[in-house]
Amino acid sequence: MNTTAVTSLQDSVYEKFQALFNDTPLIVRSPGRVNLIGEHTDYNNGLVLPAAIDKNIIVAVGKRNDGAIRLHALDQDQSYSSTLATIERSPLLWPDYILGVVQQLQQREYPLHGFNLVFGGDIPQGAGLSSSAALECATAFALNELFALGIQRLDIALIGQAAENEFVGVKCGLMDQFASVFGQEQRLIKLDCADFSYEYIPFNNPDLRIVLFDTQVKHSLASSAYNERREQCEYGLSLIQQHNPEVKSLRNATLAQLDQYVKPVDRVVYNRCYYVVTEIQRLQDGCEDLKQNDFESFGRRMFETHDGLQHLYEVSCDELDILVDLVRDNPAVLGARMMGGGFGGCTINLVSADRVEEVIAAVTNAYTAKTGYAAHVYVANISAGTSVITG
Ligand code: GLA
Repeated sequence: MNTTAVTSLQDSVYEKFQALFNDTPLIVRSPGRVNLIGEHTDYNNGLVLPAAIDKNIIVAVGKRNDGAIRLHALDQDQSYSSTLATIERSPLLWPDYILGVVQQLQQREYPLHGFNLVFGGDIPQGAGLSSSAALECATAFALNELFALGIQRLDIALIGQAAENEFVGVKCGLMDQFASVFGQEQRLIKLDCADFSYEYIPFNNPDLRIVLFDTQVKHSLASSAYNERREQCEYGLSLIQQHNPEVKSLRNATLAQLDQYVKPVDRVVYNRCYYVVTEIQRLQDGCEDLKQNDFESFGRRMFETHDGLQHLYEVSCDELDILVDLVRDNPAVLGARMMGGGFGGCTINLVSADRVEEVIAAVTNAYTAKTGYAAHVYVANISAGTSVITG
């Protein structure tokens, strides 16, 4: 974790809380995430390989004596009020991530009181680094601590995901929330979304850096297309299940079943399912590469993932493709691909540590020349998951 960044952010959040509520808060941080490989596999009961990074949402909370909920977003400089008895979607988007968590806690019958909350963060929004999952998890974790609810980490992540699914309306999988809550320094999380079992895989090669190029675009169809992809996967699965009811998710589907039962019915749905089934295998193969320290092979698989996301799953966009194409023949870049839901946000690049500056300069200049946008760049350090900072 970048301690200086957290400290100054924490100070700002703390000072704002003091100024607004004249009280000493409990402070929690929850990080954003990267995902090395295994994209759009989580909601198909597949595997993912994310890690928490050194960018955080910081949430300060304090109890109230009434049933009011008073919220303040530092970055937007906006306040919002609600009550425990009247949880509904707000005209602003950011309160929904918090109120969605409150609603989930209520549905699970946890005893809550009113509370004050201030949050801020340094996870860029819309960049595909899961600032919303971090806010959900920071909120759930903070309320769990504040009201001593006794909720386990897995349930914190599941509550965050349910808030996003049911209140915000994006039918996301568990990857982002799980990575935020379970992250560990210098370790990737190999998460099996079928049963939430997981193992940590060391990722601490001093010769490599994870570089993120942010397209600076977020196309508006992102969440509707995301939900549509999920439906297409479910439809493909249902076509298989008509013949093989024992296949419970695309995780268990074979390419032969896709060829036989999906391809003749719907070519687009076949492409979606084909991508998912091959991506789950690619992740397994990529983990073998990591065990052998074969980062070259791992990097090639990242490019293959991008190709699948671009041509079969069709969740990429011109700006992401340009960023990946700019590094395809660069020997200092072992692998690159779009990351997260798609239609904008970041590419993730595995770059030789001694050539990072050179790669950044070449890519950002060429990207601006081609698109007119200035790509933002982050070098991600793999960091620890959600924690209490003070309280
Ligand atoms: C978003 C979702 C995740 C996952 C990715 C794609 O980040 O929130 O659950 O589906 O997209 O891998």
